[in-house]
Amino acid sequence: MIKNSKNSKRDGFTGKFGIIAAAAGSAVGLGNIWKFPYEAGENGGSAFIIVYILFVVLIGLPVMLSEFVIGRNAGKNVFGAFRTIKPGQKVWGLVGMLGVLVAFIILAFYGTIAGWTMEYLYLSFTNNLSGHSSSEYVDIFNTFTQNPIRPVLWQVFFMILTGLIVLVGVKNGIEKSAKIMMPLLLILLIGLGIKALTLPDSYKGLQFLFSPDFSNFTYKSVLEALGQSFFSLSLGMGTLITYASYVSKDENIVETSFIVAGADTLIAILAGIVIFPAVFSFGISPGGGPGLVFVTLPNVFAQIQGGEFFAIAFFLSLTVAALTSSISLLEVIVAYFKEELKIERKVSATIGVVVISILGVFCTLSYGPLKNFTIFGKTIFDAADFLASNIILPVGGFSIAIFVGWFMDQEKIKSEVTSDNKYKIKIYGVYRFLIKYVIPFAILLVFLSSIGVI
Ligand code: PHE
Repeated sequence: MIKNSKNSKRDGFTGKFGIIAAAAGSAVGLGNIWKFPYEAGENGGSAFIIVYILFVVLIGLPVMLSEFVIGRNAGKNVFGAFRTIKPGQKVWGLVGMLGVLVAFIILAFYGTIAGWTMEYLYLSFTNNLSGHSSSEYVDIFNTFTQNPIRPVLWQVFFMILTGLIVLVGVKNGIEKSAKIMMPLLLILLIGLGIKALTLPDSYKGLQFLFSPDFSNFTYKSVLEALGQSFFSLSLGMGTLITYASYVSKDENIVETSFIVAGADTLIAILAGIVIFPAVFSFGISPGGGPGLVFVTLPNVFAQIQGGEFFAIAFFLSLTVAALTSSISLLEVIVAYFKEELKIERKVSATIGVVVISILGVFCTLSYGPLKNFTIFGKTIFDAADFLASNIILPVGGFSIAIFVGWFMDQEKIKSEVTSDNKYKIKIYGVYRFLIKYVIPFAILLVFLSSIGVI
């Protein structure tokens, strides 16, 4: 239970490690290990990474802190939080609604990739992933993802798992599972990174990762980097507003934000260190798109002693990383249903899972039977990803910055940032300046330049 007396009956996190595990669990996910490497690969390697890190520090961190400020101050779900802080201004509720809506969209396509991950976990368990050539791994991937049934079953199965954790609740479901799964993932990635560095030609991968090539980096890449920073840090839709509502008044939310953003960024880079040496070592194209992890890493596993074991461990931790993120997305929906529509947790979670599974089928099939069905030239999957990550999340981040920078009472913000003067926060002035002036402007600029207005 959280100690916050206003909300003494609410379920909540038990302490610092629990909050960090849960928030980092939300941030670290497929975004880091599946998406970040292939986006970096498509957008000029380290050129992308430099801009990405800049966005994390200058935009991501202050927005993350703002979400903690809003959520903890209000002690409510994303919709309720805006309404509680500014009761007279109904328009902020729309920002909250957008957050709930985008949770559905992200989960729909997230389940597709999480489902692929579970298939690969299954293949490794049954010893069917080892002993193939590079081109066979491409075939295995294509045959599986184009199948009209199998990936859908895995996707639905993943959503059910997500629902089961969420219906147990915050302390016993979300916090407990993250505390076990997050350290496991970190240990495994470090082990794999060390192995990847010893592969022949691994230096080429590192070169790609650490020496910038701006020729593949366009205005579109800037938007991509912005979207990816929001997606990877779980920002712009109220995930952390919701989680922060379960955090007690004593916790240092500035420190938590730094740890979560730092861990998320390190893990993304670690994933790059695991993947790119292998990409170059096995002659795979770095711009391989969403299949990159699935066609690259099996080659590595096939090469190493005990590779079957590593494969199981890797796909298990990726499943787990996906789960700690998907539960945070579903929690946004469930907290809203529970507190605003007064639907109890179990029923809310079930409704969420059913609706998302149905939406998710379209995303999953867009790699198979629905491959040729496009919206603005994008498959359903790509359109959902683009709309959510590159449009709605930055718009959400923009709104959060405007809300905290221009509308929320300064005293409230200050008392949240310092936890009622418990902590001395030297960077308050910098934070205030970034959130009020720099961030809204920067997000606007990225938008305008990516649509060609500037
Ligand atoms: N941050 C998660 C990841 O990197 C995805 C996510 C996005 C989770 C938005 C919650 C909210 O995989």
